[in-house]
Formats: sequence, C-alpha cells, structure tokens
Amino acid sequence: MTRSSALPFDLSGIHLEPGQGLARQLYQALRERILDGRLASGTRLPASRELAALLNISRNTVTRALDQLYAEGYVAGRVGDGTYVADLPHSRPAAAITAEADSPALQLLLRHHLATPAKGAPRAFRIGVPAFDLFPFETWARLQARFWRKPSPARLGYGDPAGDLQLRELIAAYLRNSRGLTCEAQQVLITCGSQQAISLCAQLLVQPGARVALENPGYRAAGHAFAVAGAQLCGIAVDGEGMDIDALQRLNDCQLAYVTPAHQYPTGVTLSLPRRLALLEWAKRVNGWIIEDDYDGEYRYRGTPLAPLAALDEQQRVIYIGTFGKLAFPALRLGYLVLPPALAESFARRQALEMRHSEVGTQAVMAEFIAAGYFQRHVRRMRQAARSRRDTLLAAWPAMIPGCSSLPAVDAGLHLSIKVESLARERELITAARTAGIEMNPLSDYWLPGSETAEDARAGLVLGFAAVPEAQIVEAVQRLRLAWKL
Ligand SMILES: Cc1ncc(COP(=O)(O)O)c(C=O)c1O
Repeated sequence: MTRSSALPFDLSGIHLEPGQGLARQLYQALRERILDGRLASGTRLPASRELAALLNISRNTVTRALDQLYAEGYVAGRVGDGTYVADLPHSRPAAAITAEADSPALQLLLRHHLATPAKGAPRAFRIGVPAFDLFPFETWARLQARFWRKPSPARLGYGDPAGDLQLRELIAAYLRNSRGLTCEAQQVLITCGSQQAISLCAQLLVQPGARVALENPGYRAAGHAFAVAGAQLCGIAVDGEGMDIDALQRLNDCQLAYVTPAHQYPTGVTLSLPRRLALLEWAKRVNGWIIEDDYDGEYRYRGTPLAPLAALDEQQRVIYIGTFGKLAFPALRLGYLVLPPALAESFARRQALEMRHSEVGTQAVMAEFIAAGYFQRHVRRMRQAARSRRDTLLAAWPAMIPGCSSLPAVDAGLHLSIKVESLARERELITAARTAGIEMNPLSDYWLPGSETAEDARAGLVLGFAAVPEAQIVEAVQRLRLAWKL
C-alpha cells in the first residue's frame, strides 16, 4: 500500500445525529467516502483521539467505527499506529465517476432530477402538503395492527401487479359515486403515489424524441419524468381558462398531453368546459392520449368537486391519476391510475417489471379505511380544514404589497399563486420571506427552460395554505409584514 500521510482529510459533510448509533453513522460516512474515491487509497486517517475531538464524539465511538472498517478491509494499519485507506481495486477518484456520467442516459438524469422538496415539520406556507396534522393516526394504527396480527397467508406471497383487488374495487366505487367517473376495478392500477403513475405513463407512452405537451408553467416533476424517457417537452401557455388548447392544436406531431384540469399546478386555474371538450377532441384527432393528474381534485370550496376530465371521455383516451398523498400525507406513497381498458394489461406488466406490485400492508389498510367509512369522513374533514385555512390566509393577507397583484379567488386546491411585477421583486420577496422562516416558491421556477414568455411575466409567489393550523398562518403573515416592511 502506498502511504501518503500528507494527504488532506476532509470531514465536511459528515453530520452525525446524536442518539442514532454514532459509531455506525461514522463507519457508514467513512465507507461511502472510501468507495466513491473521496478518500483515496493510502490516505492516512487522523488518530482516533484527534478524530473524536474533531467530530465532538467519544474516542470509543471512533475506535468502534474504525474497527469495523478494519474488519471489512476498508482500512489497514493498526488503530493507534496510523490507519490508512486500503488499496481497493474498485475505489475510484470522484473525477472518474463524473466522467462516467457522460452516458446520454445519465446526462439526461443530471439535467432532469427532482429538486428536493422542503423537509421537516410543515411550516407556513409549504406547498404540496395537506392538513396532515388531522390524520386519524389512532384509527390507522388500529387497522394496521389488526392486519398484521394475523395476516392471511394467501396475501403474503406475490400479489397482482395491478394491486390489491379489494382496494381497486373500493377506489373504482369511490370514483363512480363521489367523482362521477365510471370505471371498473380492472382499470385501476395501484402505484407508489402520482409520481410513479406519471413515470409509468412516460415509460409506456413516450417514444424517444416524441413530443409531449405540458402546461407552462406546470408541474416540473412530470416534465422531468417525460424528459428522462426521451420526450421533447413542449410547453403550452396557460391563461384564465387553463391550457391554451388552440396552441396545442397548432403543435404538430404530438400525441401525448399532460394536464392538471381541476386546479392547474401552479397557477390554480380550472380548465373550462369548452377547453375540456376541445382537449378531448384534440386527442381523438391526433389519436393520442391525455394524462389527467387530479392531484387535489377533492378540494373544491364552491359547489361539489368537479367531475374529472376522464368522466367526459367517451373515446377512452384519458389516463386518470389520483393520489392519497393530498388526502392522507405524501409519505404514504399511495396513488393510482385509472386506465382505458386497452392499456390496463400493458401497464400491469410494466409495473410487474418495475416493482412486482405495491406493498401489501398499506394497500390492505387503506382498503379497510375506505370500507369502514373513515376515508369519506376524512375527505370531508380535510376539505373543511383546507377551506378554513384558506379563509384565514385570505383574511390576514395584506391588502397591498408593492409589486404584487392582489390575491386571486381561491375556489379549489391547497395552494394559490400571486403575480409579481418582475423577477427582481420576486427574488426580493422570496429571500426576505425565507430569512423570516417562511416558505413559499417563486412562480418563475415552474417554467420550462427556454420559454418564450418574457422573464418578468414569469414572476410570482406560490403559497400553500393547508399545511399548518390557522394560528400559525396568522402569525406567519405578521412575520411577513415585518420582513416585507409593510
Ligand atoms: C401536480 C402534482 N401532481 C402530483 C403531486 C403529488 O405527487 P405524489 O402523489 O407523487 O406525492 C403533486 C405534489 O405536489 C403535484 O403538485
């Protein structure tokens, strides 16, 4: 082994969480750095006493981590007598990994990865999360315990790739009765949230180089999934009636459109009936498919929830996506597709290749949750909570913020968006809000790169209003007034 004791030892990025197995965490952090080449062969590790002082942990903890690395052959030498990274044939410098990312698939992924959503307990005005503080965890825990106490052996082997039949039947019945969408269990495929449903559509319906039409501004996560499948993304403008279907009609060689008709993400407008009919007509004319992402369709504050676009579809050209993430909580990772019958079998086959099928416990418990009536009660409660939180935000919001348009009418969904006069002003408002500990997204982030719309016309603020209770909303607006000097 070549020994290069003068090599620097970089501890940046090693953050050990107290109370969660410090030795194990340190072992993992060092092993990862050795394997990816950040700690090259021959690097001398600091003495255990020094490492303990640098990381503010006990020497005993460091010794245990090093002993484990030693036992597995990642380091050599003797603890106390100099420890060195072993000569590993597969340990590569970081530069080599970057060079390998030259493959077209990896390059595409580098350009189209999901931004990490905000983490930690929800704060005002986090986007994309419902009032999950109101989820009936005790009921859920009871149903979980009941399922796992004595699971039927028949359910513990491999299941149907399309998902648990009872859950699929209940979802189909819910959609028929509550959303006016006529469908059968055989058309329903359980997914790991909407994102996996979108990704399945991308894998099955996109040919490399094919055009996919998306709302612009729109849900970038969907665009990334299509782009990684090889699609050419075509942004279509959105106005007060939703996607501009005339512009879609003018787009040649496009047979797939992704839309959020109930509550356009992120502008919040609803696709008008004439546009819905024109969109269905477009799909018929081009022999194409429409992906309807009904991510927050249950949240309607005027009248009853709108029937989905899929309910109007007589040609079986709409693929409907629903998620439990906006009714329960996103980490549940449970969603579904309602597929035209002609596509159901192919999607199930693709799902089998991807993951065999979704995990049985969550599906079975959600089925019980729906069958026993808890789900419908919870949907009503969530809608009421979101409406009350919306009302609180609307009442507390400053009447006049320089450079911002006034609040729009908010009849649906869990978020709203406000126009801002320029990108500079948008940046100023967002920076001040974030400094005051308040979350909101710049509207300019939702545009596809290279959009024709003038830069300043893309500016705005996107705020989620359902994530925290009313008192926290009022308190956050007070902090915003100070931060924005109103
Ligand atoms: C437009 C849209 N679709 C779907 C989702 C939810 O995705 P998932 O069910 O994968 O959490 C979101 C989340 O914010 C969204 O904004």
